[in-house]
Amino acid sequence: MNIAIDGPASSGKSTVAKLLAKDLGITYLDTGAMYRAITYLALSKKVDLKDETKLQQLAKSADIKFMTSDDGQKVFLNGLDVTQQIRTEVVSQNVSLVSSYKSVREELVRKQQAFITKGGIVMDGRDIGTVVMPNADLKIFMVASVEIRAKRRHLENLERGFKSDYEAIKEQIATRDEYDQNRANSPLTKADDAILLDSSHMTVPEVVAEIKKLLVTKKLV
Ligand code: DC
Repeated sequence: MNIAIDGPASSGKSTVAKLLAKDLGITYLDTGAMYRAITYLALSKKVDLKDETKLQQLAKSADIKFMTSDDGQKVFLNGLDVTQQIRTEVVSQNVSLVSSYKSVREELVRKQQAFITKGGIVMDGRDIGTVVMPNADLKIFMVASVEIRAKRRHLENLERGFKSDYEAIKEQIATRDEYDQNRANSPLTKADDAILLDSSHMTVPEVVAEIKKLLVTKKLV
C-alpha cells in the first residue's frame, strides 16, 4: 500500500505520515528532509546556490539514509547524522531555492522512488501524488490556514526551547508557500485524484483517524 501526503509547509503532513506509517507497519519517507539535506550540504561546502550543475552533482552523489530511533527518525548524510542541522533557520530559508531546480529534483525523485518497495510506504512532500508516486493507492492533500500553521510551528519551537517569533514565522511560511506553489518545476499542486484534507481545526489523532477511514472505504485495509 503506497500513500502520498502532499501539502504546504507546516501543514502537519510529517507528524501525520509518521504516525500512520507506524500504525500500518510500513515505511515512512520524509522527502522534504532530502531537499534539506542537499541544501545543508551545499551551504556547508559553500557552493553557490545559483550553480544548478554543482547542486545536481551534490544531489546525485549524496548518500541519504533514514534510521528509526526511540527519539524519532534520524537523517544521515554521507554517513553523518544531520537530523538537527537540516532543521536550522538558514537551511529553511534556502531550501525552496535548491528544490526549485529541475535537475536537483530529478536526482532526488530517483532516490525517493528507490524507496518504494512491495512492503508499502507513506511519503510526504510537495510532488508525491503528482510526480513521485502518481500511482499511489491513496493521495492526501493536506492544508491548514497560514495562521494555524504558524501557531503550530511557534509552539513547537517553544517546546523545544528555541527562540521563536510568531509574526516572523507567519511571514516565512507565506513566502515559502508562494515560492513552492509558483516555481516552474513540480510546483505544489493537488493531484486531480488527491483527497483534500483541511487540518486547521483537527487534532493530529483526528487527521490520522480520517485517513484510516479513507483506507477502509477504499478497501486498502
Ligand atoms: O516539508 P519541508 O518543509 O521539510 O520541505 C522543505 C522544502 O523542500 C520545501 O520548501 C519544499 C521542498 N520540497 C519539495 O520541493 N518537494 C518535496 N517532495 C518535498 C519538499
